[in-house]
This record gives sequence, structure tokens and C-alpha cells, in this order.
Amino acid sequence: MSEFLQALKNRRSIYALGRNVNLSEDEITEIIQDAVKYSPTAFNAQSPRIVVLFGDANEKLWDIVEAALKPLTPAEAFPNTQKKIAGFKAGYGTVLFFKETETVKNLQEQFALYADNFPDWAEQSNGIATANTWVALEEAGLGANLQHYNPVIDEAVAKEWNIPASWQLRSQLVFGSKEAAAGEKEFLDDGERFRVIH
Ligand SMILES: Cc1cc2nc3c(=O)[nH]c(=O)nc-3n(C[C@H](O)[C@H](O)[C@H](O)COP(=O)(O)O)c2cc1C
Repeated sequence: MSEFLQALKNRRSIYALGRNVNLSEDEITEIIQDAVKYSPTAFNAQSPRIVVLFGDANEKLWDIVEAALKPLTPAEAFPNTQKKIAGFKAGYGTVLFFKETETVKNLQEQFALYADNFPDWAEQSNGIATANTWVALEEAGLGANLQHYNPVIDEAVAKEWNIPASWQLRSQLVFGSKEAAAGEKEFLDDGERFRVIH
């Protein structure tokens, strides 16, 4: 099997993350940047935007998530929520994926024929960049999992890191050393998903 497909196969949601990481922050940043930069986007719009959080900034993110969820979570369920968040905070860093909304608006104005498609394509472009980043981190020996605490954290995140108003938060990819393997994963029968026609 090709190394690429092997990396795709190896990528899993790893929730037990730690900080036993041999790569430097610069090396990890370069991997993330390359994975996003070389991912395709509709009309080459390059609408995904990225903020990589390490160290105190990563811990701050998960404090923001905890504070945002507290008023929204029943008191008896909150200890579980806190435990889950502590797991993310124990990781080495988090990649915030944003969508640059002005780019989408401009394309809609410029290419009226495709106006209805651009929002979907921007989401797909974010998804492709996210998946490629996830696989690239896996290939570098790191584990990761994907979270969606937007939109409840959007305002606090924008304020904390001075994020432009046109950047809409779409996902949070938490990464770190793999401290436990992923669970079993089931697959649909190939016959249900794939058709080959000659
Ligand atoms: C678009 C998308 C959204 C997801 N959102 C979440 C999420 O909010 N929280 C989470 O824990 N996992 C999330 N996941 C991870 C999936 O649950 C996971 O990829 C799937 O169960 C397959 O497991 P695997 O990643 O180990 O292959 C998301 C995955 C995708 C592709």
C-alpha cells in the first residue's frame, strides 16, 4: 500500500492526548501550514484561515470552552464536561480552523452563476484542509481529534486573539502525543458505498 494511503488508514480520532512530543512547535507549525496551503480550494479562493495554539494559549482555549459551556450544561452533567475538556487541555496544541467570509461574499458577487455554491464550497474547502492537516499530523507521529465548540466560543476566541470579524470559526483540531490507541471502528460493506461501472 502507498505511504499516503497507509497514513490515511492510520489517522484516527485520538482522545487520550499528551505532551510527549519530540517535534518542535516550529516543525509542527510548518506541517500544519503546508497541509493547509497545498489543499485545494474552490476557485483557488484559499478561504480557510488557521490559528495554531500552543502552551498557555492552548490552555486558555480550553478554559474559554469550559467557561462558555458552564451556563449551558446541567449542573449534574458538568463534571463530565469538565473531564472531557481536561482531556483536550492535556494535549500539546489546537489548530483553529476559520472560514474567511469576505472571500465567499466577493466570489458570490463576482460569479453570480455559482453564488449558491460558494458557501458549500467554502465549507468543503475547510473540510479538505482539516482532513489533510489531521493526516499530516498522524504521519508525523501525533494524535488528534476534531471538535466543534463554535459558535458558543466564537466571541471569546475573537476577543482573546484579535481574530478579524470576517473569520468564522468552523472547527478545532486538538493534537498531541498518542497516550492510548483509538477504539474499534466499524465500516459499512464496501458494496453499499462503492460502485464500479465498466
Ligand atoms: C465533519 C466532522 C465532524 C466531526 N465532529 C466531531 C466532534 O465535534 N467531536 C468529536 O469528538 N469528533 C468529531 N468528529 C470525528 C468523528 O466522530 C470520527 O472521525 C468518526 O467517528 C470516525 O472515527 P475516526 O476518526 O477514529 O476514524 C468529526 C468528524 C468529521 C469528519
